[in-house]
This record gives sequence, structure tokens and C-alpha cells, in this order.
Amino acid sequence: MNHLVAPSLLSADFLNLEKDIEMINASEADWFHLDIMDGVFVPNISFGFPVIEKIARIAKKPLDIHLMIVDPDRYLERFKKAGAYMISVHYEACTHLHRTLHAIQDLGVKAGVVLNPHTAVCLLEDIIKDVDMVLIMSVNPGFGGQKFIENSIHKIEQLRSLIRETNSQALIEVDGGVDLGNAVQLLNAGTDILVAGNTIFSSKNPTGTIRELKQI
Ligand code: DX5
Ligand code: ZN
Repeated sequence: MNHLVAPSLLSADFLNLEKDIEMINASEADWFHLDIMDGVFVPNISFGFPVIEKIARIAKKPLDIHLMIVDPDRYLERFKKAGAYMISVHYEACTHLHRTLHAIQDLGVKAGVVLNPHTAVCLLEDIIKDVDMVLIMSVNPGFGGQKFIENSIHKIEQLRSLIRETNSQALIEVDGGVDLGNAVQLLNAGTDILVAGNTIFSSKNPTGTIRELKQI
């Protein structure tokens, strides 16, 4: 498939969120990437349901929800109601990952699993056929604008092999420090979806940067 681009709203202008959402609506971007942080799983707090519900009202593209929270099972239904297309949970936050992923799918929502930089791809061997997407974190989660961790390329290659060997349908998403300099390498390694926050929103022409990421 052609790769997708998912701008991360974490780097958007929260005083003018509507403007940035309309920019993404009118751009070549494919999904909205929403980062939900609880101040426990990661050392930062982002935004919650009231904001997501408002975003969903005007967003014309699927909402890709990245949960950086402990005990995500408690809130799955509310994220679905808030408008989620995809809900991704951290491997490191789920004691019963198989149950959590199927609970998401039972709600009619796509289910993703996220690996922190220190979490090995081989740990997915027994779950890869149950997931719709694997998100490889290429920074330690919690903040936008961090430096890309090079080992992520190797992890994406390993994940692409695992998906091929198991005939899994899982998509590969990469998140953190993605820019126009590493995007080609990430796509060559097997990435399907590029998440980008700082690269898009700190550029002079965000629509143009989305187009550049899309047209690689
Ligand atoms: C980090 C978030 C990312 C973040 C990416 O915890 O999961 O989605 O917004 O931001 P950049 O692209 O600026 O690294
Ligand atoms: Zn994210």
C-alpha cells in the first residue's frame, strides 16, 4: 500500500486548534494522531475526552488514538464513543494484552499495540495475528520534538519480517522524531504510517510539509 501520514496534534496550536484541524482536513494527511497522556504511564499530561469529542466533530479523517495511560481497559468504551477509529495501547501498560486488544476490536474499533524503545519486537510473536497495527516508538513517549532513536529502523525491519512470516495483516506505524531526513529510510524499512508532530507544525508551511512526507 501507499504509506499514510498522521499529523500529531500534540504539536498543534491549542489556542487555535480548529484552524490546525481544518488545515489537516484540507491537506494530503490521512489520519489525525491524538496522544493521550495520564501523567502516570508517562511524565506528562495532554488532553482528554472533552477535547477529543470536539476534535471528532470537525475532523474529516480517522482518529488514531495513542493511549499513554495505565489500565486503558477502563476507558476503551469512552474512547470509542468519543470517535476513535484506531486505539493503540502500550505493551508495557497491559497485563492482559490479548484481552485488551480483543475488547477494542469487539467495540468495532481497530486495535494497535505500541512498543517503547526498550521493548523487543520478538515479544509480539504470540500476539501479532491479533493486532491491526503495531506502533514503534522512536522516542521515549511523553513529549513532542525529541530526537529520533536510530535503533528504531532495525526494529521496523524485524517487525516487517515477523509480519511477513506470520501472514499478519498488521500495519506498521512509527512515532517520534520523524522528519524529512529519516522518512525515506523508515519507509524502506517497512513503515506504513508516519506520525509527525514537530516536523509538520514547526515548519513554515505545514500543508507543504505534509505533502512532502506523503509524496516520498
Ligand atoms: C510522543 C508522542 C508523539 C509525538 C510525536 O509521546 O507519542 O506522537 O507527538 O512528536 P514529534 O513528531 O514532534 O516527535
Ligand atoms: Zn503518539
